[in-house]
Amino acid sequence: MKISSTNYFSYLFFLCLLLFVFVNSFEEQKNLKKSEFPDGFLFGTTTSAYQIEGGFLEDGKGLSNWDVFSHTKGRINNGDTGDIADDHYHRFQEDVELMHSIGLNSYRFSISWSRVLPRGRFGEVNLAGVTFYNKLIDSLLLKGITPFVTLNHHDHPHELEEKYGGWLNPVMQEEFLYFAQICFASFGDRVKYWTTINEPNMFAEMAYVRGVYPPARCSPPFGNCSAGNSDTEPLVAMHNMLLAHAKAAKLYREHFQPKHGGLIGIVVHSFMYKPLRNNDFDRDAANRAVLFTAAWVFDPLVHGDYPPEMRKYLLDALPRFTSDERKLIKDSIDFMGINHYGTLYAKDCIHSSCVCSNSSCIAGGDHPIHGYLITLAEKDGVSIGEPTGMSRFFVVPNGMEEIVDYMKKRYHNKPMFVTENGYASLNPTTAQADELQHDTKRVEFHKSYLASLARAIRKGADVRGYFIWSLMDNFEWTSGYELKFGLYYVDRATLDRVPKLSAKWYTDFLTNNSLNGEETGKLISFKYRTKSNHLSDK
Ligand code: BGC
Repeated sequence: MKISSTNYFSYLFFLCLLLFVFVNSFEEQKNLKKSEFPDGFLFGTTTSAYQIEGGFLEDGKGLSNWDVFSHTKGRINNGDTGDIADDHYHRFQEDVELMHSIGLNSYRFSISWSRVLPRGRFGEVNLAGVTFYNKLIDSLLLKGITPFVTLNHHDHPHELEEKYGGWLNPVMQEEFLYFAQICFASFGDRVKYWTTINEPNMFAEMAYVRGVYPPARCSPPFGNCSAGNSDTEPLVAMHNMLLAHAKAAKLYREHFQPKHGGLIGIVVHSFMYKPLRNNDFDRDAANRAVLFTAAWVFDPLVHGDYPPEMRKYLLDALPRFTSDERKLIKDSIDFMGINHYGTLYAKDCIHSSCVCSNSSCIAGGDHPIHGYLITLAEKDGVSIGEPTGMSRFFVVPNGMEEIVDYMKKRYHNKPMFVTENGYASLNPTTAQADELQHDTKRVEFHKSYLASLARAIRKGADVRGYFIWSLMDNFEWTSGYELKFGLYYVDRATLDRVPKLSAKWYTDFLTNNSLNGEETGKLISFKYRTKSNHLSDK
């Protein structure tokens, strides 16, 4: 084939451009400094109560939905439970020391509802539970670490599930409000950052669409549960969670914020989506994918109602807010918490048929619940990014810049915190402890995502913090302990915490100011791997 000189020059130009982009992003990443982030920026790690605390029946704690679920045969990989987890309930002082040694200035954790109110409003406050969180908060403050507290991270008293049917029942709004009030009154003098609910969108999806989190309700084609309706129940559960949030935020703003001066927000699971094909249908699908996930939560809490596109496709299945409720929810967050783990392709299923052929795709493109689209990780046999241990999490660093940019535009640059970003080790079942500790891929992951975040901030996004999921390996929901996200490796026999290379890198970055310190400069760059044993398919 003969190449014309015009073609030849365009080709050369394209290659030079690619090289320029590559060298530029490498240089940018190499030179990125902690001091380039805004003053007062929070650099932290994050965990959640059920995933690390253990002590599941200690000192008056009641059973939670997860305690019961993880004890149900066949629910969790390996039959693992959070009974002991990382034993943080007994080792929290040691864990605060670890955080201090890394140089964190903030720590995001959640409060176990069933430790503070073992039976919800059916029983008393458990003072031992309150004491535990008081001690944790005081230890953090003593080390100069700002507590960033989530009230509800997937777990609630089991009794509320049994008696009310959990989040499907509007009474949960009042239960949550009561729990929030106890927490604001007990800890609010020292806690200045509150988030009400962690990822209501992910919880609604996992518990009521796919039925793999308690109460495990769903219908085909999403799963085979004994009861449930994947087309309607997630919408009802979300509606109750949003109103629960708004009631707690109102209480905080009226009764606690004036004297405590803190901020209140919510945390949302926020994937970025790219159109599978460069056409209007897939571009609309990529936009719908964000609307049916992150904007499902943020639109009501900022603008006062669900995205119009959701109403268009879900019709009356989508609950409606009364005009009083609209006033209550509108503008009910001081900041947005963004949990960002990856980017996927979106394919429209309205104008063409959709078939799922690999594990990164969830069937049901012909159902309205996800906006008549499917999400995929491959285009023409090429992966969107490097795979990780989690089947739908791929390494696509510029997705961070894009999602932050998207939020900035849609929500008038409301303050944001990246409340979670993390890397699940590949093939954790076969990897030896050594390999897990020499986690070069995790280091590269955080370096490239931080560089991408810095780009979004340079373009004007009001981002005020970045939290790594997670401080240490922990109970990864249905995957149990095999899937690992931690900066610290936790020996399951002794529960000793062992720093991985990523813990040393974060320390280096936070104390020496540069993304490529002594230790990390020696890293070998990692090779592309395509095969992995996926344990979970979030
Ligand atoms: C959740 C965490 C979870 C992490 C990794 C987030 O969606 O908030 O609880 O461990 O993802 O899967």
